[in-house]
Amino acid sequence: MEQLPITTQKTVGETVASDYRTAAVFKQFGIDFCCGGKRSIGQVCEQKGIDPMLLQQALEQAQTAAGRSEMNFDDWKLGFLADYIENKHHVYVQERLPQLVEYADKVARVHGEKFPPNLEVAALVNTLRDELMGHLLKEERILFPYIRAMEKALLEGQPKPIPHFGTAAGPVNVMEAEHEVAGEIMHRIREITNDYALPEDACNTWRVLWSLLAEFEEDLHQHVHLENNILFPKALRMEEEVR
Ligand SMILES: [Fe+2]
Ligand SMILES: [Fe+2]
Repeated sequence: MEQLPITTQKTVGETVASDYRTAAVFKQFGIDFCCGGKRSIGQVCEQKGIDPMLLQQALEQAQTAAGRSEMNFDDWKLGFLADYIENKHHVYVQERLPQLVEYADKVARVHGEKFPPNLEVAALVNTLRDELMGHLLKEERILFPYIRAMEKALLEGQPKPIPHFGTAAGPVNVMEAEHEVAGEIMHRIREITNDYALPEDACNTWRVLWSLLAEFEEDLHQHVHLENNILFPKALRMEEEVR
């Protein structure tokens, strides 16, 4: 993969797409790289009052550090990337969500009276499950199959498939809006739990719940990044190409 110089004109999403190690730097500076990835580095610095030189320096350091990301998602064929997202991230979300709901409900039941934020966490986790389960199905049944079919048509020189939804722009906009909702829920959970702070006498279920939620948030960031910053924009460009 070509190492691109970091400039303030590049968007946050493009920077992370070209080297995932920069994700940690954006996180450290409090910059959203998945849902808010369409803003340029310059814009984000201005909005957040961050010195662009400092950020640029940290990004360049991350890019020259050892342990280059072995996954060059940006070089992958789109169908392969869609398969990877389904096999890694969708399977993880589908397995993890019922467990999160079970633990969050239990912690709310046992510790909700003394710690009311636990009640809100349980409500949010239940909403997250409802939101994400439907979301994954829409990607797996509607958008991803269309992306695979379009890529296949392009490779084989066949006419472009005509989807019932017209163009990919419609479903992509819906998916991106749903990512925002899920991201806001995770953000709200972090806020009301004070970054997953635990009282000293917290029970094991509570401890496990907080660490699973933190892990889930991390996975969701990468998942949404792959879709918002790589798969979707490339699919939209490919659609233009085969038209
Ligand atoms: Fe997804
Ligand atoms: Fe998604």
